[in-house]
Amino acid sequence: MDLQRALSFSRRIRGWYEECELEALWRMCSEAVQRHGILEVGCFSGRTSSLLGQFVRTLTAPVPLTFIDPFLPEYMKGFDILSAKAEFTWCLQKIGTPYRLIQKRTIDTTPAELPARIDLLHIDGDHAKTAVEIDCRVLLPLVRPGGIACFHDYGRPAFAVKAVVDNVCVDWTVIGTFGTLRALRKV
Ligand SMILES: C[S@@+](CC[C@H](N)C(=O)[O-])C[C@H]1O[C@@H](n2cnc3c(N)ncnc32)[C@H](O)[C@@H]1O
Repeated sequence: MDLQRALSFSRRIRGWYEECELEALWRMCSEAVQRHGILEVGCFSGRTSSLLGQFVRTLTAPVPLTFIDPFLPEYMKGFDILSAKAEFTWCLQKIGTPYRLIQKRTIDTTPAELPARIDLLHIDGDHAKTAVEIDCRVLLPLVRPGGIACFHDYGRPAFAVKAVVDNVCVDWTVIGTFGTLRALRKV
């Protein structure tokens, strides 16, 4: 019921996520989220961010929800990133879940800005090799043992997500690939 309501809201937000991927992301949250919370890289208009916000709202004890996105035209060429940010802000406000936006690229964040520990990491930012490597190097250590990392656009030939994730996450347990969402559990 919560999931159906969340889907009907989030699918109307601009974005690339297919319905089966949104469902899988929700399921991964249900499996992983305990008390440390969720970190997402790459929000755009908030299709996945709004799903995560709605998930947090279903919890009796709310958890921290953190987003990383520079929201700058040079990092999302060809798209109106300012209107995307406006839609992101609107939908998170409508949902009402408290959140923190770190408006930077992952490489520009400092350890003090990042959560010390997270239950679930969702990476959907810059899909170039160096950028995905940086996301992994900076953020995978924050995932608690038993926590889950999800990577969007895994296996799309135009992107380096699969190459980097297969290389970096060799010690992680593969949960599955849902559409192009790769989910792995930290051992
Ligand atoms: C594919 S979109 C995210 C889509 C979103 N998850 C959705 O549900 O529609 C990629 C986003 O990553 C952001 N981005 C680009 N480079 C980044 C970087 N180096 N670090 C963090 N975010 C970045 C862009 O501003 C853009 O909003």
